[in-house]
Amino acid sequence: MKEVVVKVLNPTYSKDFIGVVIKSDDDSIINKKIFLPYVIPGEIVKAKITKDSKTFLRGEPLEILEVSPFRVEPKCPLFYQCGGCHFQHIEYSEQLRLKKKVVSDYLKIHGKVSLDFDINVLGEGKLLPFNYRKRALIHILENGKMGFFRNETHDVVSFDECQILSKKLNESFKELKPEISKYGKYFYSLVLDDDVENIFAILNIREEYQVKELREKNFFDIYKKFPYKFIFEYRGKEIFKNFEFEESAGHFSQVNIEANKYLVNFVKDESFKRGPFNSVTELYAGSGNFTFMLSSISKKITAVELDGKLVKRGENISKEKNLGDKILFIQSSCEKFVKKNKLGNLVLLDPPRGGAKEVVKYINPKDTNIVIYISCALPTFERDLKELLSKGYKISSFSILDMFPNTYHVETVGVLEII
Ligand SMILES: C[S@@+](CC[C@H](N)C(=O)[O-])C[C@H]1O[C@@H](n2cnc3c(N)ncnc32)[C@H](O)[C@@H]1O
Repeated sequence: MKEVVVKVLNPTYSKDFIGVVIKSDDDSIINKKIFLPYVIPGEIVKAKITKDSKTFLRGEPLEILEVSPFRVEPKCPLFYQCGGCHFQHIEYSEQLRLKKKVVSDYLKIHGKVSLDFDINVLGEGKLLPFNYRKRALIHILENGKMGFFRNETHDVVSFDECQILSKKLNESFKELKPEISKYGKYFYSLVLDDDVENIFAILNIREEYQVKELREKNFFDIYKKFPYKFIFEYRGKEIFKNFEFEESAGHFSQVNIEANKYLVNFVKDESFKRGPFNSVTELYAGSGNFTFMLSSISKKITAVELDGKLVKRGENISKEKNLGDKILFIQSSCEKFVKKNKLGNLVLLDPPRGGAKEVVKYINPKDTNIVIYISCALPTFERDLKELLSKGYKISSFSILDMFPNTYHVETVGVLEII
């Protein structure tokens, strides 16, 4: 494969940065766009080309010829192999600056949305870029190897400690790994979930085994060796657990608890400023991460969520807080719900990566004067934002949150108003 010299220009919404070829034996590719990982804007790098398509190239850096002042030694020795992190080679404050740039460039280029104000970063300077993640999916191979997927493959990179996981998860992984790896033949993955009070270990059984046979062999007794809450799942269904209740273990919850506090506070400040409301509709509500906080500024809150276990949990918390009369949790797809129901004066949406295309169509400025849209995927956010702007909403506040430091992912939150 050809070697070229590249000037790195900008970050993109991916692990790759975009640059241009500035030196090559082949004149035809001088100035051609090239995407490559593990570099930093401003750097000059020697790279090998891994893909040559008509309009752009892909490459891998071989040598950094001019080093960015923001380049740092990755904390994890597996950083360049493991697919979990993308930015450990960049000083953290620069990661945030690059994420701001990615978001504003993306909205400008794809959505033709220019933000007239500087993007605010929630919790800037206060959030730690390591040991923040409280849930992890660890793959298990038949030979007992346990770890994360290697970059863009299904190979497993085995690890003993991950710099991103919470300290508690690392400790429990260290304890569990030697035992669980003996059972690679039976399990294909382990999900570890640190819910502050407990560690949950969810083990997924390979399809080829019969649950009845495993029960007869007292296979589930593995749990007796550890002080954790175990759930054994087969084809996505729970078939054994060593504890009662806790309906929503293993279901959606925010993975970065500290960052989530800034998000909840942002939504609180922005909605309290504009309240009180007669009714609030919360779409993709989970088990009520935002719902209970909103209850003091609205007469009525309807929280819609697809996952029945999260709905149950939300209802239980509502009862405990004596908010059962005010908050109605509804188990439904939001797409179905919005077709049949009038939405509140404030609509809060927090959809998964696919966004809320079929939902935003039904948000009506006559009923809803404020929309707060939280997103974990820039392309679907940009698409849905355009739809809302076309209905007459204006962006009155916009922030990003680094829910996943050291990766390219970024959470965006926009407040839209009919002014
Ligand atoms: C990004 S999470 C946000 C959850 C919650 N707001 C929180 O902060 O914990 C998205 C939620 O949407 C739910 N969900 C996914 N697709 C859905 C749909 N079509 N209708 C309703 N809820 C859905 C998921 O179960 C998940 O709880």
